[in-house]
Amino acid sequence: MKLAVVGGGSTYTPELVDGFARLRDALPVTELVLIDPDARRLELVGGLARRILARQGHPGRVSWTADLDAGADGADAVLLQLRVGGQAARQQDETWPLECGCVGQETTGAGGLAKALRTVPVVLDIAERVRRRNPDAWIVDFTNPVGIVTRALLGAGHRAVGLCNVAIGFQRKFARLLGVAPEDVALEHVGLNHLTWERSVTVGGRDVLPRLIAEHGDAIAADLRMPRSVVDRLGVVPSYYLRYFYQHDEVVRQLRTGPSRAAEVAAMERELLALYADPALDEKPELLARRGGAFYSEAAVALTASLLRDTGDVQVVNALNNGTLPFLPDDAVIEVPAAVDARGAHPLPVRPLEPLYAGLVASVTAYEHLALEAALKGGRDRVFAALLAHPLIGQLDHADRLTDALLAHNRDHLAWA
Ligand code: G6P
Ligand code: MN
Repeated sequence: MKLAVVGGGSTYTPELVDGFARLRDALPVTELVLIDPDARRLELVGGLARRILARQGHPGRVSWTADLDAGADGADAVLLQLRVGGQAARQQDETWPLECGCVGQETTGAGGLAKALRTVPVVLDIAERVRRRNPDAWIVDFTNPVGIVTRALLGAGHRAVGLCNVAIGFQRKFARLLGVAPEDVALEHVGLNHLTWERSVTVGGRDVLPRLIAEHGDAIAADLRMPRSVVDRLGVVPSYYLRYFYQHDEVVRQLRTGPSRAAEVAAMERELLALYADPALDEKPELLARRGGAFYSEAAVALTASLLRDTGDVQVVNALNNGTLPFLPDDAVIEVPAAVDARGAHPLPVRPLEPLYAGLVASVTAYEHLALEAALKGGRDRVFAALLAHPLIGQLDHADRLTDALLAHNRDHLAWA
């Protein structure tokens, strides 16, 4: 089984490779190709990837290249984990929206739109080139904003599934709190990527969410960085990305004073790459756990295995709505539990969604539609429309100013601007 990772020079890659090594029975990788334009990172990350596999006695071969066509040739699955413009572009996304009093974040709000506009054309070009050589290859997209990028891929008819680690993170956390195995915990996870709620948590056929909240509400809320009252009052567990909605103004105040996450991550990446350069290092370093990608490898291995081995088991992924949430268009991409087999991801039925959540899901879906239009066709008016539709923006004056700022900061990455 050959896998290619686009953005393979990412500091996340050792997490992924560690998963391939540990979970080799589920996903027997014989060949792993890391693809990245950054030759120095490839050397460092590729070298460590080889050592991680060797240490664990894994027979898979690791190679690396800047050549997408050669690297992806013959791949059964291609994982996308790239970041157009790197942390420098993310730093901008996290900064200029604050000037209008709006949240600056890599996937939410105006920063997320900037990232979508930079990323969608690049990802579609990669997917097209992969499909030309390997029409049967699966694309697993971890590239943010996952909802919009997956919608772009599926809209262009690609064999693609979008992946995020928020759900698996909750599953592992709840399992630990309950003292049970992660595979015994099933989540009723619903919404859009980075806009989800856990409505029930089932163990042995029983919903244990009320007990989880009663007994561990403080620990759960601390992870969300929201007050405990939010889980007590809602009776569901929102993802930590809901903080950007439920506590928007407070988050803006904090972001204005502290260092950006991009700056923190850039510093961590420098440290990580220095560690990776040590030929004696042959496992993922402790420091990597301070990046946000916890359990990404488990989720990626499970999803890829189900697609390639036609298992039909249930995982939380990003897939076409197709009537699952009846108040959304069929071509919207939602994040819900889905049966995954060799034909792709098929969302399981979802109980009617309460207005408290459905309203936000509907308006962010409309924003995502407009964001994708802007990414595919370009033009100031389309960027403005997407920002006006976003529930965290919504005002003419803000949408205008944010449009100007977005275009000014992203000209180098937008062919049409
Ligand atoms: C979580 C999210 C990812 C996001 C990451 C950011 O894992 O699900 O979508 O990219 O956090 O982590 P970072 O360490 O880059 O802030
Ligand atoms: Mn994510």
